[in-house]
Amino acid sequence: MSPHTDILHTLNSPEPSSDIEISFAGVDKAWGDNHVLRGLDFEVKAGEKVSIIGPSGSGKTTILRILMTLETPDVGLVTVGGDTLWNVKPGEKARETKQTIATRRKVGMVFQQFNLFPHMTVLENVIEAPIHVLGLSKKDATERAVDLLELVGLKEHMKHTPPELSGGQQQRVAIARALAMRPRVMLFDEPTSALDPELIGEVLNVIRRLATTTDMTMLLVTHEMRFAQEISDRVVMFDKGVVVEAGPPDQIFKSPEHDRTRKFLEAVNPY
Ligand SMILES: Nc1ncnc2c1ncn2[C@@H]1O[C@H](COP(=O)(O)OP(=O)(O)O)[C@@H](O)[C@H]1O
Ligand SMILES: [Mg+2]
Repeated sequence: MSPHTDILHTLNSPEPSSDIEISFAGVDKAWGDNHVLRGLDFEVKAGEKVSIIGPSGSGKTTILRILMTLETPDVGLVTVGGDTLWNVKPGEKARETKQTIATRRKVGMVFQQFNLFPHMTVLENVIEAPIHVLGLSKKDATERAVDLLELVGLKEHMKHTPPELSGGQQQRVAIARALAMRPRVMLFDEPTSALDPELIGEVLNVIRRLATTTDMTMLLVTHEMRFAQEISDRVVMFDKGVVVEAGPPDQIFKSPEHDRTRKFLEAVNPY
């Protein structure tokens, strides 16, 4: 057995609460005249690995940020694991309730720009939320963090601070930090797009490992089309606030139904 089997096992959920893990129903989001999401309907099944592709500015990050409660929808219902995260009726304003706060704990996110605390060590970055949000003892949080840092290959760098690490290492710390909260849902927002090309592989390897060995639900926004094709159960092509088409990776990449998808794929992958 691989030494990581135990920690990977802890990332699996004890019992799936709902067949549909993520649901957006009739979600609108606009900034002024910029209608970013238009009546978005979108579901992800428990354990499903879904990649979102689509042009820049089409609202992909907004979808993830609404799930992280970093943005509020203008209208619509968003649930995670069957529990309401947002329920905004027309004419009302989104309100963060106790339910919102409890539900968002099920979700972890890895950002394009790592978002680590630069003045804290790697270990401190990973134990911070489990101690302050989950109420773990420092000892328990540290044990969990060390196992996760070993999983992402960074145990030796525990005492370093993020600026002492490469971008690829920082992004792997960010993944460990998100996993330390034992989320049921992991969101990745173009996790390799800020990296030098030679550092992309080490980050994709960690994500691949999580995708193939855990039952976490994963939602990945990426321009790494080959990777999306390899690890996804389903690919969703998104543009101008709506889902253009969705299906198994082979279908979307090899025989897309919509012109918009075909043009987008040609533009990202011209060879
Ligand atoms: N906080 C904000 N204030 C105003 N406009 C925003 C904000 N966040 C995103 N936008 C706009 O919403 C649109 C969608 O953005 P985003 O979700 O980041 O797209 P993507 O991730 O697909 O590139 C863009 O036009 C962007 O400029
Ligand atoms: Mg984005």
